[in-house]
Amino acid sequence: MTAVPDIDTTAADLRHKLADQLAGHGWLRSPQWRAAVEAVPRHEFVRRFYRETDAPGLTTWTPVTADLVGVGEWLQQAYTDDTLITQFDGREIDWSEPKPISGAHPTSSSTLPSLVVRMLEDLQVHDAMAVLEIGTGTGYSTALMCHRLGAQNVTSVETDPDVADRAREALNRCGYSPRLVIGDGLAGAPEGGPYDRVIATCGVRNIPQTWVEQTRPGGLILATLRGWMRSLGLVRLTVGHDGHAEGRIIAEEPSFMIARQQDAPESLGMLPAPDEGSTRTTPHGPDLLSMSDSGFLAQLAMPNARFFTMPADNGTPHTYVLDATNNAFAVLTPADGNEWTVRQGGPIALWDELERSLATWHTAGSPAPTEFGITVTPTRQAIWLRSPEGPSWTLPDQT
Ligand SMILES: C[S@@+](CC[C@H](N)C(=O)[O-])C[C@H]1O[C@@H](n2cnc3c(N)ncnc32)[C@H](O)[C@@H]1O
Repeated sequence: MTAVPDIDTTAADLRHKLADQLAGHGWLRSPQWRAAVEAVPRHEFVRRFYRETDAPGLTTWTPVTADLVGVGEWLQQAYTDDTLITQFDGREIDWSEPKPISGAHPTSSSTLPSLVVRMLEDLQVHDAMAVLEIGTGTGYSTALMCHRLGAQNVTSVETDPDVADRAREALNRCGYSPRLVIGDGLAGAPEGGPYDRVIATCGVRNIPQTWVEQTRPGGLILATLRGWMRSLGLVRLTVGHDGHAEGRIIAEEPSFMIARQQDAPESLGMLPAPDEGSTRTTPHGPDLLSMSDSGFLAQLAMPNARFFTMPADNGTPHTYVLDATNNAFAVLTPADGNEWTVRQGGPIALWDELERSLATWHTAGSPAPTEFGITVTPTRQAIWLRSPEGPSWTLPDQT
């Protein structure tokens, strides 16, 4: 008879394989973070989770626990390089009779390990540095930092009390007791500061001034910037003096769920009346908003806008671009040939803003997002192209 390996042995083996995989792709680069990935039992942080089902159509998530799929399969899935969802729509999941979920909005998760370790590597920590994490989630990334830096050097803030409680239990089960704060991480955590590093695992529309104030001069802030239309990428800033910080977009792909306090207002507001605004033709149609390069520019040029398309009574598609803060609007409809008609109104001509930004970007040779940088001061936050003196776009206010 062959002995069945126990959970600890199987999990250690799976961690080793995961570490190999992450190192093979270049995400895991240093022996210290590799040791953390090999030591921290991710399965303790994801005893129950939902995983996205690979099927066309409406996104659907399937529940996974050891009881539902068997211990072996649950462990395998806990150590895949995948995001494991632990909460939808800000509400706790009813695990008494778990069923597949679709049409929901994930609000907490264990982020895919490749992104977690890549960000931890990008954080450029040294032994015993003090780190502030925003978005504890399951606590897995918090545990990696505790292993690497010592729990006494780690503070983590989670806005959702139920999520925070589960993370605390899992961390304690694994023998880690960092400072855990329940609250809005946009306020930072002054009691544990000053910090050498701040890392956010929820997206933000701007860099909270509190993070700059709570970081030592020379310290780093790593976060994904995002808007209500899309992500702007991962930024790393070096903190200076008097509330100043500056840095670059270091990667364009990562995208995190937005900080709950900065989510878009539920209501889209009033649709403009059919006779409102002034009309012109444009070669630029609504595709600009969803294509990767121009979508990035659109997010910069219209930081408070959202868009959607719906057919008018005669079936013609109308794309509405609406600014949530000042009632500015642009409505696009197909015109003759390859042209579009745009009708704009309100205090800002949104489509003019976008076209101006696109022209600037084309003139500069269509640079990638990683050629953009960010400057934060107490009075303005701006994204600039190639240098702080170059063309720039103001990020939304800290409201
Ligand atoms: C992607 S998950 C975190 C992943 C986590 N670091 C892990 O490894 O499991 C993002 C978390 O940020 C939390 N969050 C959202 N807005 C927040 C805020 N303003 N302050 C603190 N946490 C926030 C969410 O509740 C969610 O748990």
